[in-house]
Amino acid sequence: MAKPVTQFICSSCGAVHKKWSGRCDDCGEWNTIIEEAPLSAGPGKKTLGARKGKGMALTDLRTEEAAPERDTSGLNELDRVLGGGLVAASATLVGGDPGIGKSTLLLQAAGAYAKAGLNVIYVSGEEATAQVRMRAQRLGLADSPVKLASETNLREILTTLDAERPDLCIIDSVQTMWLDTVDSAPGSVSQVRASCHELVSFAKRKGVSIMLVGHVTKDGQIAGPRVVEHMVDTVLYFEGERGHQFRILRSVKNRFGPADEIGVFEMTGAGLAEVPNPSALFLSDRDERAPGSVVFAGIEGTRPVLIEVQALVAPSSLSQPRRAVVGWDSARLSMILAVLEARVGISFQGLDVYLNIAGGMRIKEPAADLAIAAALLSAREDSALPAASVVFGELSLSGALRPVAQAENRLKEAQKLGFSQAIASKGCKITDKAGMDLKLMPDLAAFTGEIFGAG
Ligand code: TYD
Ligand code: MG
Repeated sequence: MAKPVTQFICSSCGAVHKKWSGRCDDCGEWNTIIEEAPLSAGPGKKTLGARKGKGMALTDLRTEEAAPERDTSGLNELDRVLGGGLVAASATLVGGDPGIGKSTLLLQAAGAYAKAGLNVIYVSGEEATAQVRMRAQRLGLADSPVKLASETNLREILTTLDAERPDLCIIDSVQTMWLDTVDSAPGSVSQVRASCHELVSFAKRKGVSIMLVGHVTKDGQIAGPRVVEHMVDTVLYFEGERGHQFRILRSVKNRFGPADEIGVFEMTGAGLAEVPNPSALFLSDRDERAPGSVVFAGIEGTRPVLIEVQALVAPSSLSQPRRAVVGWDSARLSMILAVLEARVGISFQGLDVYLNIAGGMRIKEPAADLAIAAALLSAREDSALPAASVVFGELSLSGALRPVAQAENRLKEAQKLGFSQAIASKGCKITDKAGMDLKLMPDLAAFTGEIFGAG
């Protein structure tokens, strides 16, 4: 028999290593590598040999396939993030930090789907059914026909699902599930992977849609949702800053729709409320005349969203001035500071720089570069941008501004929310200005000269 091999797996990203080390080379996380139960080394022979299998049936690509049937929940934000509704027999993973509201979201979704006529089963591996019922009461779902269970043994769960054949089963969470055929503890990489694989293949075989909760953990003993991302059809992340009531549901992978779509929710005393117009929400309570505050006209998925970027620049007492960033990539901030210094001659040496994206939002679009640069300049020069203006454009290392996609949609959203001026990079495709006063800039130096005088 082949000798069992021990392997070391990163519980954050799932990378397999030959040796233990303090830091995973793949994802850079510390203390996440753990020794996994030995796996069998597999068949001794390297090739399949001469024995033939049954073969597989081939079909023609040109055959017409109807668009997948989708079930809508009536929670518009959720339906949109899923790409227009839940696809039958699909597997969806909802990841997020503990306490962010995943169970609340999925219980509300369960209630909404049940109300829409689907047969829904909610299995909690973390809470007793009485606890779930109490939460449902708080969410106003006490009389919705969702079936509940509290169970962690997958053999029991799959037996029940096979008998009941619901349309949708919610599993909260995948880290608490265990298979009696796998030797390691619940939450370990092998257990989480095997459980997920079992659930997903059940979903495909029996036509039951599955939604899985996955906690994002920093604790190396528990596998994170990233180790099963490749197995499911759709991966959603539920994000938000603690202390902020806004929650953003973001699709990072979707086999049935666009990725990077967002849905915005607000955590209230009675559960999650949908936010149909996020721009108005992210911009409320804003002081237009404050230096360092700039409105970025962004695109999240298919939707334009206006977001406020705030910067503060202050003299530093430290030998290495502070660069603190919330909601934006810190490496990209360093890049913008370097371009400002090298191409426009504006230095931030000896100055602390704080950058914040308002409302607990996270921006990933490079189109925000110009807005970030504008906020930094505005804070440093202590002079506000023209009133009622939005900014967008991507910055290259040469200081030139690159055109960005969907410029017209950005303008339309800004116009809808009462803005009258837009400052953007030259070359953006714009035929309809939506009545906005438009300033197109070729590079950062031109922008600085135009907005802040000679710079
Ligand atoms: P929960 O859904 O349990 O988080 P997760 O499953 O992601 O761990 O949400 C927990 C938080 O949400 C908790 O701190 C309280 C808050 N909350 C509300 O503010 N209002 C509500 O109606 C509910 C049910 C929870
Ligand atoms: Mg929970």
